Amino acid sequence: SRRQVLGAAAALATLGFGTARAQAPITIKFSHVVAPDTPKGKGALRFKELAEQRTGGKVKVEVYPNSQLYKDKEEMEALQLGSVQMLAPSLSKFGPLGVKEFEVFDLPFLFKDTQAFKNVTEGDLGKQLFAKLEPKGIRGMAYWDNGFHDMSANKPLHRVADFKGLKMRIQSSKVLEAQMRALGAIPQVMAFSELYQGLQSGVVDGTEGTFSNFWTQKLYEVQKHLTLSNHGHLAYAAIVNKKFWDGLPADIRTTLDGCMHDATVYANAIAATENALSFDKIKASGKVTIYQPTPAEILEWKKALMPVHKEMEARVGKDAMQAAYKAAG
Ligand code: LMR
Repeated sequence: SRRQVLGAAAALATLGFGTARAQAPITIKFSHVVAPDTPKGKGALRFKELAEQRTGGKVKVEVYPNSQLYKDKEEMEALQLGSVQMLAPSLSKFGPLGVKEFEVFDLPFLFKDTQAFKNVTEGDLGKQLFAKLEPKGIRGMAYWDNGFHDMSANKPLHRVADFKGLKMRIQSSKVLEAQMRALGAIPQVMAFSELYQGLQSGVVDGTEGTFSNFWTQKLYEVQKHLTLSNHGHLAYAAIVNKKFWDGLPADIRTTLDGCMHDATVYANAIAATENALSFDKIKASGKVTIYQPTPAEILEWKKALMPVHKEMEARVGKDAMQAAYKAAG
């Protein structure tokens, strides 16, 4: 009938046949779990801005923050299935994918400063780890820094003994699990999106994290004590679905690689200041007692935590560990 013909024509038009088709942008869905106002959140937005600008609108990047689309485990699956094209999960979340070497970044007190972390990601190990993602259908694009982890709970955490029996939320990393056990705590894997509620309801007693996440997730409302332990480090890998990437026109790939490079420089440059600003706000809130451990206390933490390196050697791999030590200096 005439109605059917018209209907089919309308459907073809909405599918973008005819002139509109050439202009239909390539859409990249970029999903992540943190607030927009964080080093990663801002890095993602910078990538969007650069990509849309430099491709003249041929590429459209939709950024979905705050686990709006997917939470930790689901986003990794969504990327592999192609439901989203880009993510920037923390390096502590690649174990479940079967690339256990990423957990080398979780070894306690591995990095003395940000430069040490950079030396590792920018060296051979950084490249080797990305190569291990390819058979999983994932292409590693860049490493993004966040900062050092501190510990929080509703009781003071000064000595190792203070952790005894505490349920501590961790990301899905066996090294982080071993770390919490070494302190005498009970580790519990929990999605980032569930952290606030988990702490509020008492499903977990405490957590480790960076200031920017502590502030933007409002954890100061549900945690009374924060210890400046800097025992661990939080960083990300910006990753893309490999099949999607390989299917892009070569010139677009080159442009997007450039955008990612510049977004990475930006994200890494703001990480320290973003965290310092968040720290000031946490302090100014007056809701959290902030504790700077003494050198003797840190030594005690190190004594308890350094055996985790040896314990995790079989999982993380001796080669990855040696390469990380060497590059971190
Ligand atoms: C966490 O789960 O604590 C972090 O990985 C969240 C993030 O992406 O910064």
